Amino acid sequence: MAVMVDTRSGAAVPIEIKNISTMAEFTLNLRSMCKEESQRNFAPYVRQMNPIIKSNTTQNNAIGEMFKKSHRFSSMKIAHFFCYIIKMVVFVFLIINNLRKSMCALEIKNLRLSVNDNVVLDGFSLKILPGEIHAFIGKNGVGKSSLAKAIAGHPAYKIQRGDVVLDGESIMGKAPDEIARQGFFLAFQSPIELPGISLANFIRAAVQSRLPKGTPLSGVDFYKSLYAQMEVLQIDKSFTSRPLNDGFSGGEKKRCEVLQMMMVKPKYAILDETDSGLDIDALKIVANAVNAMRNDNFAAIIITHHNKLLEYIRPDVVHIISGGKIAMSGGLELIDRLEKFGYGFINDENLL
Ligand SMILES: Nc1ncnc2c1ncn2[C@@H]1O[C@H](COP(=O)(O)OP(=O)(O)O)[C@@H](O)[C@H]1O
Ligand SMILES: [Mg+2]
Repeated sequence: MAVMVDTRSGAAVPIEIKNISTMAEFTLNLRSMCKEESQRNFAPYVRQMNPIIKSNTTQNNAIGEMFKKSHRFSSMKIAHFFCYIIKMVVFVFLIINNLRKSMCALEIKNLRLSVNDNVVLDGFSLKILPGEIHAFIGKNGVGKSSLAKAIAGHPAYKIQRGDVVLDGESIMGKAPDEIARQGFFLAFQSPIELPGISLANFIRAAVQSRLPKGTPLSGVDFYKSLYAQMEVLQIDKSFTSRPLNDGFSGGEKKRCEVLQMMMVKPKYAILDETDSGLDIDALKIVANAVNAMRNDNFAAIIITHHNKLLEYIRPDVVHIISGGKIAMSGGLELIDRLEKFGYGFINDENLL
């Protein structure tokens, strides 16, 4: 008879050992019994278990000592080693994950932007994290659309200083299609007409070009998804074969911009006055579509002059653009103050 002792709790479990012929057999027997015993009675203590042998005979004491040593050197050392490796792997994984998360953002850094040699923005900085929706409001001509087009890679809008970074990667010097593949989408304030290219073919090419090279896009899947999104936006199916924006009303063009966004599923989007030209029902439909896109992998800037769209979308932050930069940031209450006092309030300390 031997006794297995949990050295931390002091609990002792008697163990019957039959037919011990050799030390090896004894050790094997004991190990399997320890395992069984641990599973049955010592389940909560399995990790803390440090079994030793107590018995009357010198031989068993010696065997117990030997088992204790071999157990320590084999099972426990190996277990500690694996614990250490697992801890290191988890630690490295957490560091990489945090690093990746901290890099995930649309960052505009101290931007100086000119068009036709006229500086429209200077010292413009903003960071938008995935999952956030920001709103830009500002007087006509302050440079909201210029900023959007510069980020999209329009060659007429020159970044003279600063940087725009998407998920840690600068867009400087990149062509519009490369920037789009980096996850950016711009819904134009004035969508252009493209006679000769149907709406469906245009969107299909846009979706295909964002897939990794050589990835097939099934026509059946594409049209299934396209028709589903058209239904959400209440766009008639007949529009799929119409030339892009050719003869579309203002509201139809804007809804088709949102349709494109829903199909290409960008990570970062700017909607430049997408609400202009929309009737109140269409406005709600577009707002619901944007809200449906809200997730941890999507961020957007909504440029607008009207509070109705923002009431439906409820952005996380509202920025007032003035003097070439963000003059003020806050919540929806900024819109109320704007409606009450006009843009003058941002320079009037009494109204702040
Ligand atoms: N392609 C262009 N050529 C010349 N001037 C431009 C061009 N695009 C924008 N601008 C000028 O840049 C300024 C900012 O325009 P814009 O960014 O469209 O303003 P917002 O969108 O804030 O109303 C305006 O004075 C506008 O006339
Ligand atoms: Mg504009």
